[in-house]
Amino acid sequence: MRREGESDIQATPAGEIVTLTRFPGGELHDGAELGAVTEQTVRVWARQPGAPTLIARLEIPGFSPVVGSVPLSAETDWTGVLTLSAPAPVPDQPFVCIVGERRLSGRFAPAPDEHCAFAFAFGSCHRPYELDPDGHVRLSERAKLYPAMREELLTQGARFLLLCGDQVYSDALPPISVRENLPGDEDHPPPLETIIEAYRRVTRGYLGEAGFRALREAFPTYCIWDDHDIFTTWGSRLHESPLDRRLFHAASRVYCEYQHSRNPGGSLKEPPYHYTFRFGTAGFLVLDVRGARHYPSGTLLGTQQWEDIQRFLGSAEAASLHTLFVVTSIPVAHVSRWLVRLFQRLPGHLADEVRDRWCSDAFIESRNRLLSALFDWQTAAPYRQVALLSGDVHAASAFTIRRRGKFGAILECTSSPLTTKATRLERWLNLIATRAPNLLEPELHFERHFLVLANNHGLVRLRPLPGGGHHIEFTVRAWEERSRAFRPAGRLASAPEF
Ligand SMILES: [Fe+2]
Repeated sequence: MRREGESDIQATPAGEIVTLTRFPGGELHDGAELGAVTEQTVRVWARQPGAPTLIARLEIPGFSPVVGSVPLSAETDWTGVLTLSAPAPVPDQPFVCIVGERRLSGRFAPAPDEHCAFAFAFGSCHRPYELDPDGHVRLSERAKLYPAMREELLTQGARFLLLCGDQVYSDALPPISVRENLPGDEDHPPPLETIIEAYRRVTRGYLGEAGFRALREAFPTYCIWDDHDIFTTWGSRLHESPLDRRLFHAASRVYCEYQHSRNPGGSLKEPPYHYTFRFGTAGFLVLDVRGARHYPSGTLLGTQQWEDIQRFLGSAEAASLHTLFVVTSIPVAHVSRWLVRLFQRLPGHLADEVRDRWCSDAFIESRNRLLSALFDWQTAAPYRQVALLSGDVHAASAFTIRRRGKFGAILECTSSPLTTKATRLERWLNLIATRAPNLLEPELHFERHFLVLANNHGLVRLRPLPGGGHHIEFTVRAWEERSRAFRPAGRLASAPEF
């Protein structure tokens, strides 16, 4: 909580009231970024304080420009979205979207039945800040990763970027922590509006970091939140205080304003924030494993999300896919069951982290039900593959998950962290936690392919196979601080097993 006398609002010698930011590069002010793309539409997210609308112009070679306006208001902290639609489907065509002085380039998605090659990038855990010896927030050397990542992804022709959680660390550093700078206490939280303002400030601070911002401006970007966008281990704690619950409501609101609204169908709504999209014959089922999570009642995905998942997997849309990527910010395979069984009942924060896993006692039923549904979808046609895309754990890894005595294989590709510094304890735990993954797992078999402890992003490249299905290549691009360059640090290639 804030100590008395501390404030972000100060008066200048001339008596003018100014709001100070504690972020070294300031906070995001105005901006425009591309969100979901289809073969005909593009979603544009924008912010312009004080403007009731912002004009967006979509230019596609061979067509007249399409113009629309993004409605903005103080109600949404001057953020808004607009979907611009081409007069007809223009699969794979390049476009430019002009919003104010910004020119955002992209390509439309392939046609839904186009069995084609493409690449995309994913990553999680954006914490480019650290404390200097005086306790002030400064930009970390790791932030240099972003311009290099942008260049690399442009060179690689990545079609979009998936941000798989912890885009905002609302709770990591005391000077910019939401919780530590609010008035009130755990049982007497301040009004919701005060907390919403605090989340807006921290979100603008993290999303405004220049390199991360330039990366998002270069690619259509899809998002899903994880705990730090709210606060650490939300939903896996044994007890929730009145302040915890109000923090969650405020974080939900601001996540919608700044992140979710750019996703397919994204709007200001109550969680969970799952969604689907497709890119040719590859589909993406993005799960929200935070929005409904409640450890004491054993709820992970929640009834609504689970019903939506089942409906999607049984739909004609899913039947026409060759490959399905399932985004789950928390990996399914990365932490072994034996370790979770051993530590999940302990009190304290480390045990909250353990309870956070898909294989903790409260959530293992949800895990098994989800995997079973995914295996059923995957094995219903010979060319199908399922790959989980994850983050959260401050390491990258690749696993194959199989059912004992049955057909089917599910890949798991994890990329984390982008710029968060993994602590020594986290590194050690990652080494231990991915060992002996088959202990206490009578139904499933886990195979670990590699583990990477450096900061990284993930690159996925798909190549269509003539007999159906894709060749999938997952590469972990590890950041080397000394040479300020990426190097390939782990690679997993996969094709349908037929
Ligand atoms: Fe993280």
